[in-house]
Amino acid sequence: MTDPIDALPIETLRRRGSTKWAKYPADVLPLFVAESDFPLAPAITEALAGALAIGDTGYTPPTHPLQAAFVDFSARRHGWEVDATRVRTTGDVVMGLVEIMRGVISPGDGVIVTPPVYPPFFDAVPEAGGEVIRVPLVADAEGWRLDLAGIDAAFAAGARAMLLCNPHNPTGTVHDRDTLVELARIARAHGAFIISDEIHAPLVRDGVAFTPFLDAGDDAREVGFAVTSASKAYNLAGLKCALMVTASDRTTDVVSHLPVEVEWRTGWFGVIAGVAAYAPESDAWLDAVRARLDLNRELVGELVAQHLPGAQYVVPDAGYLAWIDVRPLGWGDDAAEWILENARVAVNPGPTFGEEGRGFIRVNFATSPEILQDAFARLGALA
Ligand SMILES: Cc1ncc(COP(=O)(O)O)c(C=O)c1O
Repeated sequence: MTDPIDALPIETLRRRGSTKWAKYPADVLPLFVAESDFPLAPAITEALAGALAIGDTGYTPPTHPLQAAFVDFSARRHGWEVDATRVRTTGDVVMGLVEIMRGVISPGDGVIVTPPVYPPFFDAVPEAGGEVIRVPLVADAEGWRLDLAGIDAAFAAGARAMLLCNPHNPTGTVHDRDTLVELARIARAHGAFIISDEIHAPLVRDGVAFTPFLDAGDDAREVGFAVTSASKAYNLAGLKCALMVTASDRTTDVVSHLPVEVEWRTGWFGVIAGVAAYAPESDAWLDAVRARLDLNRELVGELVAQHLPGAQYVVPDAGYLAWIDVRPLGWGDDAAEWILENARVAVNPGPTFGEEGRGFIRVNFATSPEILQDAFARLGALA
């Protein structure tokens, strides 16, 4: 069992200038945007410092060690064989989703999204010229799952592509292999594409198996694109680098015909940091983060029970986001602003994830137990 990593002290975090710790005044505990509060993996710090020392701060070349590093990481961590010649980079995951969508749809085509879901999906589809087709997740006592029949019907009605969130933000759902195999079969039967956002994949809970969409059978390889990044698990969002991965000639052709600018937007520091992140020497750091998140995802359950009696929380199988149903507390559809004003805790408003998010809040638990305890005690004072 790996020792859990500790978050940085709050005094250090408050010196950070990125969104999580800079957006709100110092009396607010920020548990909103998906940045994490842990120290960087040492290999990343060393690689970036080494580059700075020699002014290695230019443009990203067309081939670089990140492709091979990702291939090695995917085999080592997920048992997934990736072809390095089918890995390209861009500035961030959402850029990759938008550009691939542009490559596979025509203006006005429907693109399926599965709310509640990562809010930028709702903007990414029109940005690519598509129209959002909503097929909400199905909720039951165990959590959430894709509505495969609804997706089939939406493709039958003309949708051309789907944005899959695998694992899913905000619910932390890790779609199982059978579901992904069936999703791929449905998409192929309709001549449609699946664009799978796998940014949260390295952060699966202990004992849960993540299935990369492109590893879910022949149909998935034929219809699928994976877009991912080291940016979430290793907290590198500001360095601007994501990977677009394919596994068939047809889909590889789509990516290779994207405008040259798409790849040119890759941040060189993102590549340098990504290589260090995916290297075997950073595995111990990643496992220490996963160990901390496993403790925190349980701690959130205890804190919800203690401070927010009646609120519903299903322990997520991946990521560091807690999706909490606060409707039983009578806080209304959209409590985040009121919580911020009255408890001085910043959480994400549920309705931004789609109307299915009314009455929910999203809480980022990639921080210390002390900050979580303080934040939930403040929320509890409102309950
Ligand atoms: C599902 C998902 N995709 C993409 C992103 C953002 O990635 P990027 O900054 O690389 O666009 C996030 C950030 O939280 C996310 O949760």
